Amino acid sequence: MKKQSIGVGLMGLGVVAGQVARVLTDKAAILAEQVGQPLVLRKVKVLAQDLERPQAKEMGPGILTTDDDEFFNEPDIDIVVEAIGGESPAYDYLKRAITSGKHVVTSNKEVIAKHGAELRALTEQYGVGLRYEASVGGGIPLVSPFQHDLVANRISGIYAIINGTTNYIFTRMAKEGVDFSAALKKAQELGYAEADPRNDIEGVDAAYKLAILASLAFKSTVRPEDIFHDGISRLDSRDFRYAQELGYAIKLLAIAKQNDKQIEARVHPVFIPDDSLLAEVDDVYNAVLVEGDLVGKVLFFGEGAGARPTSSAVVADIVASALKIINGIGTKSRWKLEPGKVIKPMSQIETRYYMRMNVADRHGVLSQISKVLGDHLISISSVIQKETNRREQTAEIVIMTHPAREAAMQESVEELQHLDVVRKVNNLVRVED
Ligand code: HSE
Repeated sequence: MKKQSIGVGLMGLGVVAGQVARVLTDKAAILAEQVGQPLVLRKVKVLAQDLERPQAKEMGPGILTTDDDEFFNEPDIDIVVEAIGGESPAYDYLKRAITSGKHVVTSNKEVIAKHGAELRALTEQYGVGLRYEASVGGGIPLVSPFQHDLVANRISGIYAIINGTTNYIFTRMAKEGVDFSAALKKAQELGYAEADPRNDIEGVDAAYKLAILASLAFKSTVRPEDIFHDGISRLDSRDFRYAQELGYAIKLLAIAKQNDKQIEARVHPVFIPDDSLLAEVDDVYNAVLVEGDLVGKVLFFGEGAGARPTSSAVVADIVASALKIINGIGTKSRWKLEPGKVIKPMSQIETRYYMRMNVADRHGVLSQISKVLGDHLISISSVIQKETNRREQTAEIVIMTHPAREAAMQESVEELQHLDVVRKVNNLVRVED
């Protein structure tokens, strides 16, 4: 018998899930028109404490449940939407939904980054769909473009600002000259940063998102553990000042590149030319620059988090799942690891570097430093002496290098730290021109 409606089961009633429930009600008519049948919220699986939320109290009778079996045994749910976040129990819930024959939609970056390949294999086995547009970049279309609009391209690179919290912190440090801890405090006061902001600050959140984007773009399995990540806390406001003087902005970038043999994926602070498109992306905004052989460069920009933008992506995935259920038409995602392709070790990457150090302010210092770099085949492109401290007879110098190997640079820093004339190597930041 032909279905009369599409049943949706929602897991969670937090900020994103609550907004999804609101959109399904407020936009019911327009969504039904898109789908050809009404989308009906059949059940919402919550924790006991969620029952006290005002939104929970507005739900119709029999919709809310705290019982997993009651939720998964509901025969009229066609699409399960997981918006509880975190790896556990979300991963188990998604597996249970798929093996129960439900189509699934999730906003969960951690589960997709870590277990996307396994979940996809399971959906193929059970003949259902897995959609996760909201897992990266909030409402910015990113997953769908890689699966549809850009499929004719060979993607060579992704350069992404995909963590709003760290972009906000860097923007305050660059524009107001405040230090890292003051900028973080402000981000927390405004509700951008979590009370425990480690995943954002250390680049873990961005690495999850890059794992998802690189896997899609390169049609490979790039896992979070394949991605080098380095955080933002060692950046000082003076690094931003010097970067500006040199014609650069500093951003936490998630970078993925591929050639015929290797995939390179990393997340760390980067100097980028201050007239580049990504340098203009400030505050909590996200932007993803993609390079394809046919399309050239395309830039996706927008709000990378928040209930409304994220609900925009989740509801679009619900509609796509509903259309697939009704019409049986969908795009099969190609997802094979290209044979012979390996993840490039971080030690082998090549980039330019900015290095800031405190040195003794006397003759022969620069020659000792340039000898260490020269011994590692690192060529200096400029040296600037910044501030001197007469009392301590020290000077701060900034060195920009030509492209060099990461391993050579790390070995040089180690040796430089041991020179008598070097008080401290304060910072080393990679440069992407
Ligand atoms: N913590 C993330 C950010 C938002 O700051 O961008 C959710 O992905």
